[in-house]
Amino acid sequence: MSGSNLDYKFGNKNQWRRRLWNQIRARCAVPTRDAIVLYLAGKDDLDRKEAIRRGFLPKNMIAVDRDPRAIRSLRANGAIGINANFCDVMAGWNRTRDVHVVLADFCCGFDVSVVLPLAVAIMMPSFGNCVIAANFLRGRDSSSNWYREQQAPMMQELSRCAGYDPKHRGLFFWTLYSGLLISGGEEPSTTREYEERVANRYQWCAPRLNPLLLTYRSTANQTFDSIIWSPLSRAIPHVLTPEFRGQVINSIAGRNLTEGAPSAARKIAAALAHRTMYADRMAAP
Ligand SMILES: C[S@@+](CC[C@H](N)C(=O)[O-])C[C@H]1O[C@@H](n2cnc3c(N)ncnc32)[C@H](O)[C@@H]1O
Repeated sequence: MSGSNLDYKFGNKNQWRRRLWNQIRARCAVPTRDAIVLYLAGKDDLDRKEAIRRGFLPKNMIAVDRDPRAIRSLRANGAIGINANFCDVMAGWNRTRDVHVVLADFCCGFDVSVVLPLAVAIMMPSFGNCVIAANFLRGRDSSSNWYREQQAPMMQELSRCAGYDPKHRGLFFWTLYSGLLISGGEEPSTTREYEERVANRYQWCAPRLNPLLLTYRSTANQTFDSIIWSPLSRAIPHVLTPEFRGQVINSIAGRNLTEGAPSAARKIAAALAHRTMYADRMAAP
């Protein structure tokens, strides 16, 4: 079943959505009325109401869904929607135009084909000033078994020191992302220079990003895990330089990222043109 057919309006998820949007508002690097939001909408577009309630503007809410029916229904309600893969949209986004909130509420598990492009796309310059929130199903993610097994000792350590749930998919996303932050997509090395450089970068980044983990259960008793963290640039502009970002994007991890980007870029341009037309019409006397 396509994720857009499911019902996302239930108590635990409503509560999670409210909590998440409070966090997004608190972490946003610009006033909410100026923030550009890129988010996975679903057919009922339930995030919109929460966002608008907190001062985000409808014209700045860019909904993405790969299901054309969800996008049709959104557009019929006047929303701006892009029918494409979420990571393609991130990869195809104009690199000089800041996005301030990314909400990737996936209905799938910690699938390698989703989490790897997402972690790399976040390194693109337009997402340097962006609150990142992602949500994953815990399970149905055998493609990442190897990664989760590899990370198991680290998870046990995080569980022991910080009380985190060692199966939390948001925590795995954090280790994946921080792995990229640490290595910059480079082959790890044992030289002292390399170790100092990566340790320095991580010590700067982690506390400033201030990740928060959330979990809720669906009506079908499935567990969903999410993570939210704060914008990067505000905290560490001198650590994540354009050269560093380019290095990650061009690394092996980023290799498959840009395939769908050109087509997504055309769809983004069309959606943004529609947004401008709409704004002009609203401003007309
Ligand atoms: C969980 S729903 C979003 C629900 C919404 N955040 C809410 O709280 O009501 C996820 C939506 O994203 C779409 N989707 C899932 N993975 C996607 C991807 N990689 N690219 C684009 N759309 C995707 C699904 O079709 C579905 O409609």
